[in-house]
Amino acid sequence: MMRLWLLTGYRRSRADFAAAHAPAMAGMLRARRWPPWACAALLLIATGAATQSIPTAPTSRPIPIADQEPITPTPEPPAADPLKLALGERLFSDTRLSNDGKLACSSCHDISTNGTGRRYATVRHDGSNAPFDTLTIFNAALSFRLNWEGNFRTLEAQAESSLENPANMATSVEDVVARLNADPEMVRQFRAAYDRAPDRASLLDALATFEKSLVTPGSRFDLWLAGDTSALSAAELRGYGIFKSFGCISCHQGVNVGGNLFQRQGIFRPLVHAKPDVVRVPSLRNVATTAPYFHDGSAATLEEAVRKMGAAQLDRSLTDEQVSSLVAFLQTLTGNYRGEPVKGAPP
Ligand code: HEC
Ligand code: HEC
Repeated sequence: MMRLWLLTGYRRSRADFAAAHAPAMAGMLRARRWPPWACAALLLIATGAATQSIPTAPTSRPIPIADQEPITPTPEPPAADPLKLALGERLFSDTRLSNDGKLACSSCHDISTNGTGRRYATVRHDGSNAPFDTLTIFNAALSFRLNWEGNFRTLEAQAESSLENPANMATSVEDVVARLNADPEMVRQFRAAYDRAPDRASLLDALATFEKSLVTPGSRFDLWLAGDTSALSAAELRGYGIFKSFGCISCHQGVNVGGNLFQRQGIFRPLVHAKPDVVRVPSLRNVATTAPYFHDGSAATLEEAVRKMGAAQLDRSLTDEQVSSLVAFLQTLTGNYRGEPVKGAPP
């Protein structure tokens, strides 16, 4: 049922969407892990075959808005063992996780603001490529792959790489485990949570457990999805309408408004000169708080990022009014962490 309703959501814009976005859709269909129902839906949209299969709306009961939209609300954090969670939180800001004792995960991923800090693109993540803008840690657990290149499938594997990467913690899991084992208090806490002294699996599990809790539910957009029709203003809804009808939604959808497929950047016009050319589409959750934008941090403002997206990914030159409507919509995607709104990092 839900799938069919998704199609109705696209109905008005279908012809426009299919005509303008054939290259984008071809890219999407190439993406791995694109859910089969979505492929089917897009094919229907592209071929116009959906026209016959769209049902009429039942009038008997109201349908939650979320069931009809291609974006789903951010869930609450998953249930977790409180001891593992607390241990993971402590480790996340423990500088013993870096080689020189200067950096913690939290040095770059500041969870008291936006989960990225200033997101300044100084980090050479694999030593050879251009530096990558720091991704926010918020809602990372909800994306299908991790990092700009989508090169990790699990938080544990990503954490191990963060520890061992010369540009991040520049240490090794063995060294960190040895340092933690030298601290009786840490050994006590690991024993309490995992029934054993710190080892590779428990270290990575504690970090991942904490990272899974870093979700930001309760954005105004999610309130609207849950049925609170007063949560969004007319201007914001207009922005969401443009987001769908122009086809931004073809790449940025699902629970993270992105984060669920690979795409070429710079389809119609160059976007970011630095490699890679194909990236995991970034999530737009909390995007109003995470300037600068793009994998090299080259767009300073959300307005600039939106305008460039229109030109580079959709071959559209957006009017000022369309840009501000889109930005108004994107601002409704800011959620809450531990009951406080996610906020931009201080300059
Ligand atoms: C020196 C800054 C720095 C430190 C320290 C750091 N990170 Fe990161 N983090 C980054 C950058 C830059 C990226 C993007 C890298 C990429 O795309 O290749 C990133 C990406 C991530 C992602 C992927 C987010 C997503 O949406 O895909 C996760 C998860 C993450 N880091 C966790 C950690 C953990 C856990 C630690 C501590 C063990 C850590 N980071 C330490 C800079 C840092
Ligand atoms: C064909 C797929 C595609 C379409 C269509 C698309 N985007 Fe994107 N979007 C991407 C990719 C890929 C990136 C990352 C580019 C990079 O940094 O290399 C991105 C990045 C962004 C960013 C920056 C996010 C960040 O954290 O740096 C914003 C904002 C954004 N898109 C908004 C939009 C809007 C608004 C539209 C519609 C006007 C749109 N996108 C259409 C694929 C797409």
